[in-house]
Amino acid sequence: MRIRQQASKFIFAAGAILLLATPATNVFARGVELAVPADVIPPEIPEDNQLTQEKIDLGRKLYFDTRISTDGTVGCVTCHDPKHALADGRGAKTSAGVGGAMGTRNTPTVLNAAFLSTQFWDGRAATLEEQAAQPLLNPIEHGFTNTAAVEARIKELGEYAELFKAAFGSDAITLERAAKAIASFERTIISLDAPIDRFLAGEAGAISQSAKRGWELFNTKARCNTCHGHIGAFPLFTDEDYHNLGVGTQALDFAKVAREAAETVAQGKSIDELVLGDAEASELGRFIVSGLPKHLGAFKTPQLRNVALTAPYMHDGSEATLRDVIDFYDRGGNDNPYLDGGMRPLGLTEQERSDLVALLETFSSDDLERFSSLEQEKPAH
Ligand code: HEC
Ligand code: HEC
Repeated sequence: MRIRQQASKFIFAAGAILLLATPATNVFARGVELAVPADVIPPEIPEDNQLTQEKIDLGRKLYFDTRISTDGTVGCVTCHDPKHALADGRGAKTSAGVGGAMGTRNTPTVLNAAFLSTQFWDGRAATLEEQAAQPLLNPIEHGFTNTAAVEARIKELGEYAELFKAAFGSDAITLERAAKAIASFERTIISLDAPIDRFLAGEAGAISQSAKRGWELFNTKARCNTCHGHIGAFPLFTDEDYHNLGVGTQALDFAKVAREAAETVAQGKSIDELVLGDAEASELGRFIVSGLPKHLGAFKTPQLRNVALTAPYMHDGSEATLRDVIDFYDRGGNDNPYLDGGMRPLGLTEQERSDLVALLETFSSDDLERFSSLEQEKPAH
């Protein structure tokens, strides 16, 4: 995880309430409370996008508004649906955007994404603000080809000028402001109250015997903790690093695909458009961002919160169930020249596999109901 040197400058968590650390912060003054437990480092809030209720309200409306797409059918909600733990519940391995166009990647949840120090499977966005603009400008997600087209659409809808004014002080509708508002809304989509949390806080009966054995395995024989380790200050079960597990690498000529991808990006295509539109370029993983050979086919270790609710799995959706994921790890991933050194056959028994699945099921928050009515919520002011 990123050491959040700046975080303390902005906000300190005290109990469930965020207290003001500097006069510039208006988190508490505006009555915005984030559900961050006391010992967890709160999400970083950029200096130029302080959290206000007005921005959150605007961001929420934008997030659910499917009219903000070229064919009028796709919103963030289409692929990140509160009814499906803020992931895509439509059942395909990867997600479809405007006109039913299929992308190359499995949709991660937006739930708790505020805590992550990079966004996307390859970490190509450093902030939620930077992330939010990309799907709007992707030809197979919201479908717009340029910034002006997004802005024109939001203006056409006629309902937004007032909300932009309330949030930003003037009614100018810009993509940058829209992204800031959506990011602010996403910072409120937090839930860290699952049976595993209560178990780790000392409530022995919070999880089953099978899940307890799973937790022991997770941290020993199954080696999950080497990448999905848990610490109290950052309880998302990810090292936020990139690893090649061999997902989707079968028969890929990395050298050729890397060369072609570099040429396409040099010609001006965005990485976002390239990787979501081209299945081979997608498999380069983190390499397309860093250019480092160790990142060939390496993807971000995903958070495991609510993972039982967000099937299918892996960046390409290639594993249908949690049991399939465990079987994948048991055989040591898929062999390829860049396989992470930490991957090796585990020799798990049938019972141990079931125990690990039982454990992962305890990572689901109990309070996700509260997000399902978000769309209907009226602005708080
Ligand atoms: C057509 C489906 C689709 C739409 C529409 C869509 N997303 Fe996504 N989202 C995805 C996919 C697929 C990824 C992973 C892409 C990748 O890693 O390259 C993703 C990744 C993300 C992530 C990164 C999460 C993480 O753990 O790294 C966030 C945050 C996010 N989307 C928010 C949004 C927001 C906000 C909107 C609306 C402006 C939006 N998405 C619209 C499918 C979609
Ligand atoms: C070497 C690091 C590493 C180890 C060890 C590891 N993981 Fe992962 N895990 C990852 C990465 C990286 C991904 C994404 C890979 C991809 O899509 O290419 C992932 C994906 C997953 C997913 C899919 C999540 C989703 O939202 O799609 C689950 C579930 C998971 N791991 C659980 C486990 C369990 C359980 C163990 C132990 C048996 C384990 N992992 C061991 C790094 C690791």
